[in-house]
Amino acid sequence: MRLTFPYTTLVLGIFFQGAASVTVYYPQGQEPLGASGTVTAAAANYTGAAAYNPTVLNPPPVPSPFTPQFIVQLQNGGTPGVSIKQSGSFFGFSIEMSVANQVLGKNSSFIQVPFLNLMANIQQRAGRVNIRVGGNTQETAVLVDSTPDGRILEKDITGASNPTLTPPLVFTPELLYMLRNISSFVNVRWFLGIPFNDTTNLRLGIAEKGQEILGDYLIGLQAGNEPDLYARHGHRPSTYQPQDYINEFGTLVNAMSGDAHVVNRGLLIGPNLATGDWKPEQIWDLGFVDTYNNNLAYLAVEHYPTDNCFAQFGVGTPHDPQETFPQFLDHNAGKNIVAPYLNSTAFAQTKNKQFLMFETNTASCGGFAGISDSFGAALWGLDYALQMAHSNFSGALMHIGGQNVFYNPFTSPPTNQSTFHQWTIGPIYYSALVTAEALGASNASQVLDLNVNEGNIYTPGYGIYENGNPVRVALFNFVTDSSGASDLTVSIAVGGSGIGQQNATPAQVKVKYLLASSVSQKGNFTWAGQTFGGIFQSDGRLMGTENITTVQCDQTTNLCAVKVPAPGFALVFLNDDAFTESDGGPSTTFPTTAQTKTINTITIDPSVLATSNGHSGMGSKLGSTSHGSISAASSLTQALPGIMVVAALVSGAFVVGRALVH
Ligand SMILES: *[C@@H]1O[C@H](CO)[C@@H](O)[C@H](O)[C@H]1NC(C)=O
Ligand SMILES: *[C@@H]1O[C@H](CO)[C@@H](O)[C@H](O)[C@H]1NC(C)=O
Ligand SMILES: *[C@@H]1O[C@H](CO)[C@@H](O)[C@H](O)[C@H]1NC(C)=O
Ligand SMILES: *[C@@H]1O[C@H](CO)[C@@H](O)[C@H](O)[C@H]1NC(C)=O
Ligand SMILES: *[C@@H]1O[C@H](CO)[C@@H](O)[C@H](O)[C@H]1NC(C)=O
Ligand SMILES: *[C@@H]1O[C@H](CO)[C@@H](O)[C@H](O)[C@H]1NC(C)=O
Ligand SMILES: *[C@@H]1O[C@H](CO)[C@@H](O)[C@H](O)[C@H]1NC(C)=O
Ligand SMILES: *[C@@H]1O[C@H](CO)[C@@H](O)[C@H](O)[C@H]1NC(C)=O
Ligand SMILES: *[C@@H]1O[C@H](CO)[C@@H](O)[C@H](O)[C@H]1NC(C)=O
Ligand SMILES: *[C@@H]1O[C@H](CO)[C@@H](O)[C@H](O)[C@H]1NC(C)=O
Repeated sequence: MRLTFPYTTLVLGIFFQGAASVTVYYPQGQEPLGASGTVTAAAANYTGAAAYNPTVLNPPPVPSPFTPQFIVQLQNGGTPGVSIKQSGSFFGFSIEMSVANQVLGKNSSFIQVPFLNLMANIQQRAGRVNIRVGGNTQETAVLVDSTPDGRILEKDITGASNPTLTPPLVFTPELLYMLRNISSFVNVRWFLGIPFNDTTNLRLGIAEKGQEILGDYLIGLQAGNEPDLYARHGHRPSTYQPQDYINEFGTLVNAMSGDAHVVNRGLLIGPNLATGDWKPEQIWDLGFVDTYNNNLAYLAVEHYPTDNCFAQFGVGTPHDPQETFPQFLDHNAGKNIVAPYLNSTAFAQTKNKQFLMFETNTASCGGFAGISDSFGAALWGLDYALQMAHSNFSGALMHIGGQNVFYNPFTSPPTNQSTFHQWTIGPIYYSALVTAEALGASNASQVLDLNVNEGNIYTPGYGIYENGNPVRVALFNFVTDSSGASDLTVSIAVGGSGIGQQNATPAQVKVKYLLASSVSQKGNFTWAGQTFGGIFQSDGRLMGTENITTVQCDQTTNLCAVKVPAPGFALVFLNDDAFTESDGGPSTTFPTTAQTKTINTITIDPSVLATSNGHSGMGSKLGSTSHGSISAASSLTQALPGIMVVAALVSGAFVVGRALVH
């Protein structure tokens, strides 16, 4: 029997943006030397943009020997080694500041509805979503009252004189109003960054206006982005040392103390090391946390396990994607990234601070074609996130760049194609969704790497505990083997922890699967049978019918035998409370208002129709202007009955909110 949850709030909309060239921003710190800082992508059929690269790699061979059957014995009543309590919003996103107007919206009244839907999916499971808007481009950003063309964000090309050719950004308060308006639709909390390129002339505008406009929705202000790379990148003298960073942090603290508009001086985040040229201990050992205890909201680092800079920009060491792929396809991948920080997460606990992975993804310089956009990356991201949770990180933010990166969790279509294409949902978004569901919304979940199958690196497993008892089990199979011979059968037992304790194996468990045919597959991954489709196919909502598997447990052996296909991931719910908590309770219905340019008549992509469950009330605004779209008004209304509509049409705008009863 499948459980149902009362209400899901869904929003559907299509936005029209002005026809213009596609401005491609380089991922932070990863600009090609000698480039102008922008390229114009002739993206008529998307063959050029990395986000849609069709490369498919070969999955690694089946490991040998390989043991596909094993037992997992869990205990009620307390298990040593579990993590600190984790929030369901553990897995968040980091949006490079320069692409905020591509991903989030154009202004406070023009917000990308697919983005809202994607966030609502996570909110439904986790309660909230944490997002950082920043990156290298925050460092030279300047808050201005307005821009000549009215945009909320633009690059000051004439100012592109710094060594990495990161063009300085100018942005207006409208960017912050946009974030605030997003938070009125979905419970998104924001991290921002204070420009740190010149701490003798600090620009505190983002802290002042950020606090004024965002209020409690602003949860942290980064002070310095990867300062251990400042010297290497020519942003500081070659003599720049950890103490110099700490001194600059102190300069910032003093400046904020003297600024009556910065009401909350306890929101800072440091040291944000890339862990490239310095280790975090070099900062801790200088007394940083004690000195600035009252100012530090979080401790953070940023890290990518490898880079693809040679292929992208001709610098650094070449990494062949096919040869590199297996490095992402086992349990050591996440463990190796986390290992250098274990001492720091322990240290953070002694200081009562949360420790964040503030920016990460598969590889810097945009990730790898065929790796970062494959099902393997979804498994990698999920195992890495759970490994960080197990290791007492308190959150992790996966980075989002522009059209020219492979690793985006989600990508909006190039601007001039937004009228006939939808969004592309990458594997890392699935990792985020499933992590939210694995951790749930209780704020009480504790994660333990169970070291199952004698530590086999291709079959990791985690227990998620609440109040001392296991509630969910996360099981991975990194192997690709269509023969079925490598499908796992994992026998789960739950027992008491002490003398006189009873066997506590449930009568049945529910299982949700994250599946694809191969670790190489691109797009169309399924989570409990539902998908966001392939490229350009998503409005941010899961499509298809949810499929939840119920496994009857053997009451004689007290084992629940759960299959995990090769490849695949299974989230096992040990009781119905664990299931309903993660699957979302009643979620808030939010009215959506958004405005679009009126240059286009609203059209509905036929692919939306195919996947929509219904709405009405768009009336004469529906019509077709271009690119094979059909006028869809009547068919949409007729094909999609029975749905409550919360729709608003605001001066040529098109917005539909729907409350769908499952
Ligand atoms: C989008 O803009 C690019 C660059 O100006 C242009 O080459 C391309 O033809 C446009 N595509 C469409 C569908 O208008
Ligand atoms: C993309 O467009 C180019 C130029 O119009 C064309 O030669 C090529 O065949 C197209 N590729 C695809 C996959 O449609
Ligand atoms: C810092 O950034 C601002 C704004 O982009 C720029 O005007 C200034 O010259 C930069 N200062 C240094 C020292 O790089
Ligand atoms: C969005 O922001 C503007 C201010 O820029 C405000 O007037 C408007 O009411 C906001 N809309 C919503 C739905 O919060
Ligand atoms: C762990 O971190 C603390 C605080 O920085 C440091 O004093 C200690 O030496 C570190 N231990 C190891 C093994 O690195
Ligand atoms: C995480 O923190 C808990 C509580 O302090 C501790 O028992 C556990 O060993 C830590 N886990 C790791 C992997 O460091
Ligand atoms: C979880 O923590 C968040 C942030 O502190 C809080 O807003 C939320 O209400 C908490 N949820 C529960 C179920 O306690
Ligand atoms: C995903 O599935 C859709 C619908 O079946 C199909 O059109 C599309 O080509 C598939 N995409 C990929 C990347 O497999
Ligand atoms: C539901 O998922 C299970 C496990 O993957 C699968 O065996 C079954 O065929 C699926 N059912 C449907 C209707 O897709
Ligand atoms: C918001 O952006 C849209 C689309 O670019 C534009 O039509 C609208 O005028 C903008 N609104 C404001 C208040 O600038």
